[in-house]
Amino acid sequence: MKIHHVGYLAKSLEKSRNKYIELGFIVERPVKYDDIRKINIEFLVNGDYRVELIEPVDKESPMYPLLARYKNTPYHFCYEVEDLDKAVAELSDKHYTMMQEPEVAPCIDNDRVVFMYNNSMGIIELVEIR
Ligand code: NI
Repeated sequence: MKIHHVGYLAKSLEKSRNKYIELGFIVERPVKYDDIRKINIEFLVNGDYRVELIEPVDKESPMYPLLARYKNTPYHFCYEVEDLDKAVAELSDKHYTMMQEPEVAPCIDNDRVVFMYNNSMGIIELVEIR
């Protein structure tokens, strides 16, 4: 499966962005607020690599506990799929559990995404590229 991006939790999106830019990344999609999950999101690219910076805006964000625990860190790979429901079924057979129902990602052209969890893998994300 092709990797779409690596998700990176940031305490301060602006500070982390500046550090990525120092390392040769450029902004692909400027910061956007996701009001479902109360996070700011920005996509950066460096050649074939894409990083998603995720900044929980307050303690009400469902992402806040992860930030409190891990600070600034990569925390998921996102994989591209053609058919989200089919991919979920296949990965369920491989002992991944859906963390919540698929939802649209306003920051990725409203493509559908889902997060899945496996004990030996941790969190992965799937994005349905139309
Ligand atoms: Ni992601």
